[in-house]
Amino acid sequence: HTTDLRDTRGRPLRDLRLSVIDQCNFRCPYCMPKESYGPDFPFMSSSERLSFEQLARLARTFVELGVEKLRITGGEPLLRKDLPRLIETLAAMRTLEGRPLDIALTTNGSLLAARAQSLKDAGLSRITVSLDSLDDKLAGRMNGVDFPVARVLEGIAAAQRVGLAPVKVNTVIERGVNDSQILPLVHHFRDSGVQLRFIEYMDVGGASRWSASQVLSADAMRAIVQQHYPLAPDGAARGHGTAEIWRHADGAGSIGFISSMSHPFCGDCVRARVAADGKLYLCLFSQQGADLRPWLGEGQEAQLASRVRALWEARSDRYSELRGTVPASGRTHAHKVVRMSLVGG
Ligand code: GTP
Ligand code: 5AD
Ligand code: SF4
Ligand code: SF4
Repeated sequence: HTTDLRDTRGRPLRDLRLSVIDQCNFRCPYCMPKESYGPDFPFMSSSERLSFEQLARLARTFVELGVEKLRITGGEPLLRKDLPRLIETLAAMRTLEGRPLDIALTTNGSLLAARAQSLKDAGLSRITVSLDSLDDKLAGRMNGVDFPVARVLEGIAAAQRVGLAPVKVNTVIERGVNDSQILPLVHHFRDSGVQLRFIEYMDVGGASRWSASQVLSADAMRAIVQQHYPLAPDGAARGHGTAEIWRHADGAGSIGFISSMSHPFCGDCVRARVAADGKLYLCLFSQQGADLRPWLGEGQEAQLASRVRALWEARSDRYSELRGTVPASGRTHAHKVVRMSLVGG
């Protein structure tokens, strides 16, 4: 059966992260630092981006090959015109294989308040919003464009109101920059139904300011939370996910910790990423992608499937494990890796 597809390490293909646009209206220093992503940066032109028809064919093939979770990413995916129309098409694939299909989206939240209802109506399952600080000044620095926290919070509230559940909030912690926000964020989202997830600062492509000394480990973040809010491990295995879940001992909800630097999770990595131009990346730290565009025409589904199958069967990536835990200093890439804003994290 198609879902028996495995890579060289026995890992199945279960998640597809589809980037629909490589541009973003934020300039988070850990992803698109202003000095590198200025007005002259060569973003993809709209003619280079896959059409919705191509994206849909691609997604359908991946679902047939075993994918159970589609995540729409960017850049900032809500900058892509008419996105709900794509989501409607993807949502119609839910009945294809007779198994559940989770359709999620990662956004910076800036445009969410206005779009939440149409995304829900189109069939989106759930949403994850990035938010690094509750303090406007610090948040403005971390999003690079002084975007106000209140408007992101309005987006989160709108997503909750329309039932894009569970809403998750992603917080990247940079030691010495926003570790002061850990407790305020926990306090804010306790009992709200939103799951907060603290992410270790990674040396992803584009994060030109990264240094090992700025990584705060998930264990250290959890220790900070635990000083004020007792947590208990959720008990459920991390499975194929990225986050380890801990629960507030008093029942006020759960918090995730994503330890890609200190405890890499490559062994369970079932994720494929496709950039908005149709290039397939088998790892967040890949140097280059495999161009799928030649097989995205109508009637080419079988060829596309055998191409993807062959690429996945040859996959051996486990970048984070090979690199080891957080090095003492300096950058770690021996090679130039794909930029985060091209593959959506
Ligand atoms: P859920 O389906 O809600 O669990 O989301 P997710 O964690 O799969 O995706 P999300 O976009 O919320 O990513 C959270 C953080 O984990 C981001 O910083 C991602 O860059 C990082 N991340 C996601 N997948 C991988 C991966 O395969 N490898 C590494 N190293 N980091 C990843
Ligand atoms: N380290 C960790 N997470 C990052 N993200 C972007 N850049 C980095 C980085 N250098 C996160 C974003 C978003 C998710 C898709 O990836 O905050 O929530
Ligand atoms: Fe934009 Fe997200 Fe990158 Fe920030 S992390 S610059 S919001 S794509
Ligand atoms: Fe998967 Fe690569 Fe991340 Fe490891 S580093 S979990 S192989 S994407």
